[in-house]
Amino acid sequence: MIVSKDPNEVRDQILSWKSEKLSVGFAPTMGFLHEGHANLFVRSAGENSKTVVSIFVNPAQFNDPEDYLKYPINTEGDLEICKSSKVDLVYLPDKDTMYPGGIPEVELRIPHLMKNLDATTRPGHFEGVLLVLSRLFHTIPADRSYFGKKDYQQYLVVKEFVKVLGFPMEIIGVDTVRSAEGLALSSRNARLIGQEKEEALLLIRALRLGESLIRQGEKDPSEVLTVMRDVLDSSSKIQTDYLEILDANTLEELPILKGEILLAVAAFLGQVRLIDNLTVKVS
Ligand code: PAJ
Repeated sequence: MIVSKDPNEVRDQILSWKSEKLSVGFAPTMGFLHEGHANLFVRSAGENSKTVVSIFVNPAQFNDPEDYLKYPINTEGDLEICKSSKVDLVYLPDKDTMYPGGIPEVELRIPHLMKNLDATTRPGHFEGVLLVLSRLFHTIPADRSYFGKKDYQQYLVVKEFVKVLGFPMEIIGVDTVRSAEGLALSSRNARLIGQEKEEALLLIRALRLGESLIRQGEKDPSEVLTVMRDVLDSSSKIQTDYLEILDANTLEELPILKGEILLAVAAFLGQVRLIDNLTVKVS
């Protein structure tokens, strides 16, 4: 496995693979890797000749400076996970390589997909994500890039961004990996303490309850939201940031529940902000 901090070396290696007609899959990450990330790598390795992973905690996408400073780092452990998940190259840029002269003043937006959810509760977040991905995609001109549906809005925004800007790359969405109890794996879970781990399960409990109501035929989003909100409100430790039911393709509100529906939640447990979602299809 090649490990490099040098963007020119990484790009040359990828172009050399492409000149040999080898397909390249890419999974960008911020490190502190877990099985959710590893699942993206293994999926890429199954569909491409070479798999590239980047690890970079991107300061441009943190609207809360405290969250950035507390973001967990474990490069040695991350490299072990990459090695055992069939990764061929790991790109580890530092801040100065990524943003020489500091974070540039540029605003990248996909307005119609950035009207709600994390786009409004974390101002500037997706602009920062699109900035770092633009830079990464120039260094890593992969054929396919892999994104988790745990960050569902990110997946949709990136897919549209790549399409409208004409990056010759396919964006693949991969299902959320969960603990046995149902908690969506996240690097931030490591910061949950004591009872918070138990309470975090209320997010998936609320989502599953919403899903089952919709499957049973409930068509009114406000009825479903009320029941889901009661689940979250049953814990005084949970502070809900958003709870929304939207069209899973357009992220528009749905007056009547039909088609492919997204149930999405974000909540604080103490200092830790968790997000999760489910999609459900009804006719
Ligand atoms: P990060 O949070 O490290 O996630 C990297 C990728 O792993 C994302 O595509 C995310 O959706 C996916 N992922 C995380 N947990 C997952 C889980 N439990 N199941 C499935 N996939 C999961 O997302 C980012 O980093 C950054 O915004 C990034 C795209 C790297 C830009 O900086």
